Amino acid sequence: MNLFAVNKYLREVYVPVPTIEWIGGVDGKIKIIDQTLLPNELKYVYCDDRKSIYHAIKTLMVRGAPAIGIAGAMGAVVGIKDDKSEDFDSFFKEFKEVIAYLGSSRPTAVNLFWGLKRMEETAQKNSQKPVSEIKEILLNEAKTILEEDKEICRKIGENGEAFLEEGSCVITHCNAGGLATGDFGTALAVMFAATNKGKKISVYADETRPLLQGSRLTVWELKNAGIDVTLICDNMSAHTMKSKKIDCVIVGADRIAANGDAANKIGTYGLSIIAKEHNVPFYVAAPASTFDLSITSGDEIPIEERGSDEITSIAGHKIAPDGIKVFNPAFDVTPAANIKAIITERGVIHSPNMEKIKNVIGDNT
Ligand code: MRU
Repeated sequence: MNLFAVNKYLREVYVPVPTIEWIGGVDGKIKIIDQTLLPNELKYVYCDDRKSIYHAIKTLMVRGAPAIGIAGAMGAVVGIKDDKSEDFDSFFKEFKEVIAYLGSSRPTAVNLFWGLKRMEETAQKNSQKPVSEIKEILLNEAKTILEEDKEICRKIGENGEAFLEEGSCVITHCNAGGLATGDFGTALAVMFAATNKGKKISVYADETRPLLQGSRLTVWELKNAGIDVTLICDNMSAHTMKSKKIDCVIVGADRIAANGDAANKIGTYGLSIIAKEHNVPFYVAAPASTFDLSITSGDEIPIEERGSDEITSIAGHKIAPDGIKVFNPAFDVTPAANIKAIITERGVIHSPNMEKIKNVIGDNT
C-alpha cells in the first residue's frame, strides 16, 4: 500500500489509510479497520447490520469521536436497510429504534449522537417521499458526513499548524489521528499539516493505558508518516516535560461543554495539570460536532466506565489478583481553565469560554 502522495508544496506527504468507508449501494455495508488488531495486523471488517456495527463501536474496532459519529450515521443505514415498511410512520418508528440502539453503544463522544440526530432529522425532512427513496437519501447523508469530516480534518490542520514551528516538540495522548476520523485526524492533523509544510517536528506519544491507543495507534500512524515519534508510558509525561524541551501538548476531545470543559481519554486531565505546572501550552483540536452546547459545564458529561478485564489483564495475560476491585473510567474532563486554545475547523478559540465558543461554533447542528 502506498502511503504517500505529492502535496501542493511538491513534497511527498502521508496519506492516511481510510478508517471507515461505505461499500456498494443502499444494500451495501460498512468497511472498517479493526483497530483492536493494530499495529500487528491491518485487517478490515464489514458490518452489514445493526448488531455488527453496534458491536464494532462498543468493542472499539472503530473508535475516536468523529469516526464513531460516521459509524453511527452509516450504522443507521445498515440498521434499517432490511426493514419492509411501506409507509413513513412504521418506517420511522423502526428507524428511531435503530438510532436508540446505536446510541446506547458508547455514552461519552457526542459525535455519535450528533451523527444519529442528523440521520433522524434527514428522515423526518423527507417524510413525504417513498420509503425506498428515503433509504437512498439516508445513505447519501451518511456519505456526506464522511466527506465533510475529511474536509474538517484538513481545516483543523490548517488552522492549527501555526502553533508548531520548525523543531517543535509535542506531547499527545490517546489517538486523535486518521484512525479516529474520516481522514487526517484532529490533534494529529495539526502535526501532519505542519509536517506537510516542511516543518520538522517531533512527538512524544503517551501509551494511553488501559487500551493503549497511543502505543498501538498513534505511534503507528506517526511512524508511517515519517514523523519523529517517541513512545512514553502515561506516568512519564511530567518527567518528560521537566527534562526535555516540550513546546506544547495537543490532544483531541470527545465532548466539549458550552464553557470549554473538554472530555477526552482518561489521563488527559492529569496531563493538562502537568502542562500547567510546567508552563507548557495545552491545545485541544476538535470539530464543531464535538461541542455539546446543551450542557453548561463538563460536570454534565457522561463518563463511560468499561469492564475490569481491561485493567486486570494485558493481551489475555492476567496482571492482577482474582476478584480485585477495579475502577475503569474511559474518559476524564479537562477544565477550560487548563486549555490555552481549542483548534476547530471554524477557527481557533483562544482561552475558551462560553461567549467565545458561541461566537465561533454558533449552531453546530
Ligand atoms: O475510547 P476511544 O479510543 O474512542 O477514545 C478516543 C479519544 O479519547 C480521542 O482522543 C478522541 O475521541 C478524539 S479523536 C479525534
